[in-house]
Amino acid sequence: MITLKSAREIELMRRAGKITAAARALAGEMVKPGVTTREIDKAVHRFIKSQGAEPSFLNYNGYPASVCISVNDEIIHGIPGNRVLQEGDIVSVDVGAYIGGFHGDCAATYACGKISEEAQRLIDVTRQSFFEGIKNAREGCRVSDIGHAVQEYVEANGFSVVREYVGHGVGRQMHESPEVPNYGAPGHGPKLLRGMTIAVEPMVNMGTAAIKQMPDGWTVRTADGKYAAHYENTLLITAGEPELLTVPAP
Ligand code: MF3
Ligand code: CO
Repeated sequence: MITLKSAREIELMRRAGKITAAARALAGEMVKPGVTTREIDKAVHRFIKSQGAEPSFLNYNGYPASVCISVNDEIIHGIPGNRVLQEGDIVSVDVGAYIGGFHGDCAATYACGKISEEAQRLIDVTRQSFFEGIKNAREGCRVSDIGHAVQEYVEANGFSVVREYVGHGVGRQMHESPEVPNYGAPGHGPKLLRGMTIAVEPMVNMGTAAIKQMPDGWTVRTADGKYAAHYENTLLITAGEPELLTVPAP
């Protein structure tokens, strides 16, 4: 069931979204050579708690941390730990915060020190694919119009889109209906209505779209070992432009 949020519920989602985006910004600022992914997780956990919110991911289906940190060929769901970030890494940070009964959910990929031109292009194309997609995130469009635009843009730039993981409704639950794929033909899926809140989150691979699940049960990597990037915001569907509830990362 797709829930439409009331004005009061939207207010609460704005609050959750603000905290979530600030947590992402904090994590992004910490991406530097020599920092461990666990240090970033600890700082984000502390920040979310300091805001009176709860980290949405911690214990979600047994997930052991507050942030997902996925480095280089890791696409999503990397578990923070002893890994020391190195100059040239690209680091995807995904975070959720829960407050007042609602979740925010957002992600972005950050450069660790100086990175290759091709890695920077991957980050830029991934971010822009989100903005191409959400041109169709408005009342009257259908859900698949978003993913269609994401896929067109990504493939026109020579990269590929992950199929196995998708965006989703967000609200009282972190994952609600509908699913929001980053690929496919336009004109399919539910019609978008004002008051829907969704997370649009392209996962983009430099090489092939194929993925590989790691034995830790969480980390998802590219099958070919090439780099991947991720970009996500929670947004509200309106009659016009969508309202970004997690202020977009630069
Ligand atoms: N943030 C992911 C999403 O965008 C979900 C993270 S799974 C978790 O849907 F277990 F880490 F929480
Ligand atoms: Co999400």
